[in-house]
Amino acid sequence: MSSDEDVAAASRHTHFIGKKENIIQARRVKSVGERDVLVIYHQGDFYAIEVRCYHSGGPLQEGDIEVSCLCPWHKYKITLAEGEGLYQAVDPSVKPLKPTWCSRGVKQRVHTVTLSNEDVFLTLNDSPGPTDSDYYQTEKYRNTFLKDWPKKTNTDSDD
Ligand code: FES
Repeated sequence: MSSDEDVAAASRHTHFIGKKENIIQARRVKSVGERDVLVIYHQGDFYAIEVRCYHSGGPLQEGDIEVSCLCPWHKYKITLAEGEGLYQAVDPSVKPLKPTWCSRGVKQRVHTVTLSNEDVFLTLNDSPGPTDSDYYQTEKYRNTFLKDWPKKTNTDSDD
């Protein structure tokens, strides 16, 4: 592929999300093509993660954010940067017992956020390999819960 083709392909997958200050103040869900993506600012960085939890499709836009996202339905933790599903484990042979976070080996699809001046852009991760959360991006699940959510904050507003 030539560099012109690379630029054209990248621009087809890159979408304006909103103004930086607005997203810092309120997380946002953006529907892009067949994907619904939560764009969030946390401790100096922007993240983009598919909005339906890989476990049972829970609404991550309503989850608490610590270092990771805490799904509001069953409290699974998902890292914001990698979409890694986490669980807490304890090695009983090590005293005192100390829980540590480990990977479940399942993933939430994450996307790339870039900034240009005060504008925030989303580049979709369209990697062909399946990601665990892809199951909930089907039409059946896409018609759930987002219709009620825009009342709380910004959804699909381009500022
Ligand atoms: S839907 Fe069960 S933890 Fe998210």
